[in-house]
Amino acid sequence: MIDRFSSYSLLPHNTFGMDVKAAQFIEFTTVEDVISIAKELGGRKHLVIGGGSNLLFMGDYDGVVLHSAIKSVEVVGETDDSVSVRAGSGINWDEFVAYIVEQGWQGLENLSAIPGEVGASAVQNVGAYGVEAGDFIEKVEAISLVDATLKVFTKEECAYAYRDSIFKKSEKGKNVITHVIFKLNKKPDFVLSYGNLKEQCEAMGGVTAENIRKAVCATRAAKLPDPAELGSAGSFFMNPVVDAAKAEELKNIYPAMPVYPAPGGVKLSAGWLIDRCGWKERSAERVGVYRNQALVVVNLGGATGKDVIDFATRVQDSVKEKFGVEIFPEVNVID
Ligand code: EPU
Repeated sequence: MIDRFSSYSLLPHNTFGMDVKAAQFIEFTTVEDVISIAKELGGRKHLVIGGGSNLLFMGDYDGVVLHSAIKSVEVVGETDDSVSVRAGSGINWDEFVAYIVEQGWQGLENLSAIPGEVGASAVQNVGAYGVEAGDFIEKVEAISLVDATLKVFTKEECAYAYRDSIFKKSEKGKNVITHVIFKLNKKPDFVLSYGNLKEQCEAMGGVTAENIRKAVCATRAAKLPDPAELGSAGSFFMNPVVDAAKAEELKNIYPAMPVYPAPGGVKLSAGWLIDRCGWKERSAERVGVYRNQALVVVNLGGATGKDVIDFATRVQDSVKEKFGVEIFPEVNVID
C-alpha cells in the first residue's frame, strides 16, 4: 500500500525536533510499491528517510520524502552456527534487536537502544560498544531509483567502514533499501571490550545476550538524551582519526586523552575533545551539548537548522584551535 501526503510535517520524523514540512511524503509497504514509486519519481528531488535520527533539516524540504513501512521478518538460511534473517527496512531498529535477542540469536545485542530503523542501519553502519551493524550484514536488497530494478548488494559491495558505506558514497540517493539480510550467531561470541560491560553483566548473573542488552540500554540511558525529551541526532560529530605523530604530541600534553587504534591512524574521542573545550558549561541560546556526552548536540527548544550549524561550527573551531584537530559532522544535513 502506498500512502501519499502533501505539505507533510516532518516533526515526528526527525529526532532533532525540527518543525519543518516536506512538499510530498510517500510511505510504502511492499517492494512492488517501491518499483512503481521509482517509475513515477523521474528526476524529482527526493530523500529516503528512516527514523530521522541522523538528520538535520535546514528548512522545509521542497522534494519528495520516501519512508519505508516494510516490516516483515523471515529466516532465509540456517547452519549449525548461524541464522540468516531478512528484515524489512521499516522495522524499528531496537524492536528488531529485541526480537533477535529473544530468539536466542547473537551479534546485535551491543547495538541495543539505538534510535532509527533497519534500512538506515545499513546505510549508516550504526555502531556502539565495539560492534557495527555491517559486521552482521550479509546482503542489502534495494530498488534502484535510476531504473526501478532490484539490486542486491553483497557485504563486500556495501564497503562498510566507520559510520560509512557505499550508500553514503557512490550509491547515495540512488536506491530505496527494502530489506536487509543479517547473518547472526547461534553460538556465543560476545564483544565485551567496551568499558565495564563484562562486570555489568556479571553483576546481573552472567554474560548473556539478554544481559548485554540490559547493560547497553542502561549505559545509553545514562549517557545519551531521550529524543522524546530533548531533541538531538545522537553523536553529532564523528570521532577524528589522526596520524600517530599527532596522537603522540597530544598524549604528551594530555596524558588522560583517550586514544584507540584505527585503520589509517589513531582515533581520538571527539566527545572528550569538545568536553575539554568547556562546551558543557556554555551553550548558544537554543543549542548546546548534552551534559553527559559532549558529542551530542542538543536542541534546547525551538532551534533551527541554522542555529545548530552555527553552534556546531563554533564547536569545531574551538577544537581546531585548542588541539589542532578537525572534527566533522556525522549527521546528514538536508537542504
Ligand atoms: N568523553 C568525555 N566527555 C564527554 C564524552 C566522552 O570525556 O562529554 C570521554 C569518555 O569518558 C570516554 C571517551 O570520551 O573516555 C569516549 O566516550 P564514549 O565511550 O561515550 O564514546 P564516543 O566515542 O564518544 C562512540 C559513538 C557512540 C557510541 C559510543 C559507544 C561515534 C561518533 N559515537 O561515542 O555512538 O554509543 O561510541 O560505543 O562514534 C551515535 O553514533 O549516535 C552514538 C551515540
